[in-house]
Amino acid sequence: MAPSPPETPAKEHTSELTEAEIAVHWKEEEGFIPQPKFIGQANLTDPAVNERFSLEHFPECFREFGDMLTWDKYWTQTLDSSNAPFYQWFAGGKLNASYNCIDRHLAQYGNKAAVIFVGEPEGEDPVALTYNELYARVNEFALLLRDFAGLKTGDRVTIHMPMVAELPITMLACARLGIIHTVVFGGFSGEAAGRRAADSQSRVVITMDGYYRNGKMIDHLQNLDVACETAKSEGQVVDKVLIWQRYPGKVSSAKPLVPGRDFLVNEAVKPFKNKIVAPVSMPSEAPLFLMYTSGTTGRPKGCQHSTGGYMAYAAGTSKWIQDIHPTDVYWCTADIGWITGHTYIVYGPLALAGTTVIYEGVPTFPDANRLWRIAERLGVNIFHTAPTAIRQLRKLAPDGPKNFRTVFKNMTTVGEPIEPTTWHWFYETVGKGKAAVTDTWWQTETGGVVCTTKPALDKMKPGSAGPGAPGIHCVIFDENGNEIPPGSNRAGNICVRNPWPGLMQTIWGDPEKFKRQYFVKYNKNPNSKDWRDWPYFAGDGAMESADGYFRILGRIDDVINVAGHRLGTKEIESACLTVPEVAEAAVVPIMDEVRGRLPEVYVSLKPGIQPSKAIEDKVVRAIETEIGKIARPSAVRIVPDMPKTRSGKIMRRVLASISNTMEVGDITTLANPDIVEQIRLQVQGTGKVQTKAAAPEIKDFGAKSE
Ligand code: WT7
Repeated sequence: MAPSPPETPAKEHTSELTEAEIAVHWKEEEGFIPQPKFIGQANLTDPAVNERFSLEHFPECFREFGDMLTWDKYWTQTLDSSNAPFYQWFAGGKLNASYNCIDRHLAQYGNKAAVIFVGEPEGEDPVALTYNELYARVNEFALLLRDFAGLKTGDRVTIHMPMVAELPITMLACARLGIIHTVVFGGFSGEAAGRRAADSQSRVVITMDGYYRNGKMIDHLQNLDVACETAKSEGQVVDKVLIWQRYPGKVSSAKPLVPGRDFLVNEAVKPFKNKIVAPVSMPSEAPLFLMYTSGTTGRPKGCQHSTGGYMAYAAGTSKWIQDIHPTDVYWCTADIGWITGHTYIVYGPLALAGTTVIYEGVPTFPDANRLWRIAERLGVNIFHTAPTAIRQLRKLAPDGPKNFRTVFKNMTTVGEPIEPTTWHWFYETVGKGKAAVTDTWWQTETGGVVCTTKPALDKMKPGSAGPGAPGIHCVIFDENGNEIPPGSNRAGNICVRNPWPGLMQTIWGDPEKFKRQYFVKYNKNPNSKDWRDWPYFAGDGAMESADGYFRILGRIDDVINVAGHRLGTKEIESACLTVPEVAEAAVVPIMDEVRGRLPEVYVSLKPGIQPSKAIEDKVVRAIETEIGKIARPSAVRIVPDMPKTRSGKIMRRVLASISNTMEVGDITTLANPDIVEQIRLQVQGTGKVQTKAAAPEIKDFGAKSE
């Protein structure tokens, strides 16, 4: 297991060059007006929504979201903020998430497709699961969880699965019984899954034998034993594993099952076929799931989301921002292993009786037009994706979309800023100038979108995420807590003034850290129990234009957003340090044309050890083992020494400047200033390299002093 470096409070991040600071800036553009045809059918067209959701009407405005759900017991208080910044939404209410996603739709939509699964191999036809069928599958699996695996309400379960229809079935079965699920992205390593199982104290793991990715069957089950060993080494015994088979009855993995621990779902589920279990009525504030995400420390933290508040926010934003109707075919290309997939593949669309598409594979298999073929065949009319995918497809097949009869009405993006050139291609070529483009900014912590345009009401502006979503009141603070006014062309830290139902409840097992990480920075009175005193600090740099649109610049902490996925530099550094030859490691973000940012690794070696390609490869492998291929670095640079301050702190800012060919700035305070030119030559080559300054507005952004 990787050693965890000591925790550093946010204020001491003085040696980093963050994502936000290497952000590229583009010109403000004029807005685009949504098409009348879109407006004519949209769920949210009443401009009075702005007034209804003004701060004056907070928190009661969020009743509108709560009322989109079916409650077993209606709530007594919309928001209980008496223990701010720990909030209870729809307090006193009771409901069940799986009931809201399935049972309540059966009378009207039982025979309508709930989930359409598209396997990666093109020879396999898509498979549709109706709401009736989803109901049957979720019920039998819930019974398996309860009566075979011995799970009960409040227990945690770790789910390490690929993108298959069995994943939402598993999640909804947990939700039916009030079992808290922790879905781990299928591409994460066994170690990463095991650490999450340990942190969440899961004694049951649910996985799948294999899945297709990029034309190959991946032997996913190979991760399982490592996951269980890792969990055990951290004090958590996994005593039961439920294994879905990609092809029921057929073996797709070479890993032998561990007798007494590993069980095949399609065998074990037989006694429960066609049996029904009543949904457990859960308090609104009962946790629905944990979603681990990278933060400033070495260990990912478990973001805990509630049942009532989260579901209300998922339903409300899916209805108003994604514009999902029961008649739509909606496709979000994210992975369910991330928060986007939880909210906008599973819980939001299903709460609205929508049809949600799940695609197993990569967007470029077997070619860069695969997504358009799927969309055309299934009649997808709402398409939700990430800028990184758009950039990649544009690069590979710029005219591809023109050859398809796809008709999108709303195309939403998430994960990173979408720069105007990419935006325009998406709008004109993919959307054929007819679809609304909706850029949504949010985070694992926020449960649902936070900044976005309301697609039928607000003009779209390439490069801007838009104003706060209904009921979300954003503000930009400088380092000293002064508000940066809109239109001042200065960047700062984006915060939300008020709580909202989708906001995570706490960090699993660490409420103090929750408070410290997100609320202490701009709190003026630690004893206050008034929500107004606890602005939510998002950890992103942003600018607000005069019209109230927010442009997101990127993370201001040790987090790197790689192709819309969040990785902690400290986590990657810990992985590097598992290589015995490595003495020190520093990971910095580097700009990438397609993936936004990539981690670049600098290591120094222990005395007497010579640099070699073999050591570089070892470092890459260590990262893949500890985290997963997703964290693979752009380069591993073995340097003779790290640039350090006199107190011995590695100046990552200098390394990041070199990697991004930016000016290194003042290095006079370094203990070893000569090393900088040496590293620069090594990385940039011998010639004199043109360096560029950070964007001017960003220059004075953040108080950086050593
Ligand atoms: C970080 C959150 C929940 C969305 C998936 C990622 C960046 C997210 C945007 C956007 C610019 C964005 C931020 C944020 N981000 N959406 N539309 N424009 N940046 O969730 O893994 O929790 O990452 O992704 O930096 O803090 P996540």
